[in-house]
Amino acid sequence: MTSRYGLEGRAAIVTGASRGIGRAVAEALAGAGARVCVSARDPDAVRRVAGELGGVGLAGSVADPAHLRELTELGLSALGRIDIVVNNAAANQPYGPLMDAAPDRWREAFTVNVEAPLRLVQCAWRAWMREHGGAVVNICTEGAAHVGPNVGAYGTSKAALLHLAQQLAGELAPKVRVNSVSPGLVRAGPLDALADRLIARAQPSNERTDDTALLLLRSTAVRGRGAV
Ligand SMILES: NC(=O)c1ccc[n+]([C@@H]2O[C@H](COP(=O)([O-])OP(=O)(O)OC[C@H]3O[C@@H](n4cnc5c(N)ncnc54)[C@H](OP(=O)(O)O)[C@@H]3O)[C@@H](O)[C@H]2O)c1
Repeated sequence: MTSRYGLEGRAAIVTGASRGIGRAVAEALAGAGARVCVSARDPDAVRRVAGELGGVGLAGSVADPAHLRELTELGLSALGRIDIVVNNAAANQPYGPLMDAAPDRWREAFTVNVEAPLRLVQCAWRAWMREHGGAVVNICTEGAAHVGPNVGAYGTSKAALLHLAQQLAGELAPKVRVNSVSPGLVRAGPLDALADRLIARAQPSNERTDDTALLLLRSTAVRGRGAV
């Protein structure tokens, strides 16, 4: 049976897919007919999830540019294409007042939450999407729009990730749709609904340029930016 998302035969890379939101999204993508290439640091968990979802996986940190290159190469060689990238892996440290934030930990938050998503999109763009199109979803957070005690590094880096999605949406349209999803606090229960919402945004654009234009236009009208 064809799924309503039209993802049969598509291939997706999902970072931070060994548990939580990333696992739920990878499972939902696989359930919608896509083949998945998953990543996280724990090799046992990556092997288990890749096996359960009938996909492939590679253990490593998204903070390591070599891991992102190898992940892209694995996706392309094992799945034959890279239609979808879901940037989900994140660092929520350093936790605490910014006046106490150690520069190295602050930098790590930006390396994982902002630099790695850009690097992975660059890899996927060069390897597949520039020619064939695709879709990118960055998992942001509702907190990117608010300030709060002790989460300054996380919130600031996620706000940068949100801006990155908006910037990339403009630069890569109409070939590649770039969106972000900003969940509130997620516990196990709402994961299915979130994953459902997310894969609706992960539909590649190459056969849907009209939808892409409409989506971006609507978004531009509302927010003055090229992403939702
Ligand atoms: N849960 C929430 O309430 C909530 C709310 C708003 C936004 N979010 C966002 O949703 C995303 C997922 O959150 P979650 O709560 O599902 O997280 P989680 O349950 O802690 O899972 C995080 C996943 O990312 C992997 N990971 C962490 N650091 C990594 C790194 N440096 N390189 C590669 N993989 C890494 C983890 O595996 P390893 O440890 O093995 O690497 C794991 O698979 C994040 O972007 C988060 O900011 C979550």
